[in-house]
Amino acid sequence: MSDRLERLKHSDPVLYDICQRELQRQRKGLELIASESFVPAEVLELQGSVLTNKTAEGYPGKRYHAGCAVMDDMERLGVERAKVLFGAEHANIQPLGGSSANQAVYFSVLQPGDRILGMKLDQGGHLTHGYSMNFSGRTYTFFDYGLDPVTETIDYESVERLAQLHRPKMIVAGASAYPRLIDYERLAGIAKSADAYLFVDIAHIAGLIAAGVIPSPVPHADFVTSTTTKTLAGARGGFILCREKYAKAVDSAVFPGIQGSMHMHTMAAKAFTFGYAMTDAFKTYAKQVVENAAALGEALEEKGFRLVSGGTDNHLLLVDLRTKKLTGKRFEQVLESVGITVNKNMIPQDPEKPMVTSGVRVGVTAMTIKGMGGSEMREIAELMTRVADHHENPEVLNEVSQAVEALAERFPLYEGFLD
Ligand SMILES: Cc1ncc(COP(=O)(O)O)c(C=O)c1O
Repeated sequence: MSDRLERLKHSDPVLYDICQRELQRQRKGLELIASESFVPAEVLELQGSVLTNKTAEGYPGKRYHAGCAVMDDMERLGVERAKVLFGAEHANIQPLGGSSANQAVYFSVLQPGDRILGMKLDQGGHLTHGYSMNFSGRTYTFFDYGLDPVTETIDYESVERLAQLHRPKMIVAGASAYPRLIDYERLAGIAKSADAYLFVDIAHIAGLIAAGVIPSPVPHADFVTSTTTKTLAGARGGFILCREKYAKAVDSAVFPGIQGSMHMHTMAAKAFTFGYAMTDAFKTYAKQVVENAAALGEALEEKGFRLVSGGTDNHLLLVDLRTKKLTGKRFEQVLESVGITVNKNMIPQDPEKPMVTSGVRVGVTAMTIKGMGGSEMREIAELMTRVADHHENPEVLNEVSQAVEALAERFPLYEGFLD
């Protein structure tokens, strides 16, 4: 592979081989999992840096261990960049992931048992928005809202009705599989009239928001959380933005509330991610993501797939496979066999079980980062259609597999950096 793994190659060839195989998989396939991206090489460098050696607990200037002055500079830099990037009053960049960021928000102003209104999991919400087996559903009393069955977009009238009925202390918005824009101003009005906090989880769409290509919840919400992966396309971690009046509660919910020492190498990579997201190159990428998702959606519709809500405003599509007489499970499996990765996903009112589903979620972030545009999106739609229409024909699948590799390799990944 690369000089960077030269030592590993000799000291632990088994792990080296695993890294090599995964690099080849990423290079030769079409990566359409909506939560994935290819991080800049700087993120790989920082995550492999000596910063991993430093133990740091607490906050800059108030650490529990000596020797943290340099790490204080780094955390302050990351916090400042996050605040500027999103126009937020306060930022906490310590959460190790999106789930722990969400846990800290609940923990900051709620008590166990408090009522929360969140989006239904099978209509786009996330596990941390109230799933019964998740800490969220086990700690708090969740009620859920969903989509209008006709438009397949958030039914704001029902959110309003449910907020008045249940009087939750918090309303959670944001999703893992929702292709449309969210009306944050309207949700803020609903939350205000119910005397509830508004918390928006932008894990999937943070990059598009940072680049200004879709609206931001920051002016409207009390709390906003995100991962630094997905459309932000950076380090694997999380962060919280909030109004200044909640800064102390949020900070102490993260530490000492739910976390101990931080992963400073990852925090530095997050700081890089926030800085990179301010560049013109990032803005161009984010605009292209939205254009590519729309182009892929249109091409799939032309080929007989149905898109939930009729299209997309962001980086992902939710594809209803019933017109192709396929389940999400089958389509995911057969696509993977030709080198295209997507994930099965429930669609609204899905008649299938969660491990089977009638849909797949398709995202364009990773392929956009590689440099693909509208014409490649149409090629991808053509390949996906051939797989759907001939999923039991090994000859066609073999041809598609070769076309996938040829298309993927036209757009090199980490060339000159990992080899
Ligand atoms: C909306 C949403 N919130 C939170 C998370 C959790 O992030 P993590 O996997 O970093 O814990 C995800 C991840 O898929 C997500 O989609």
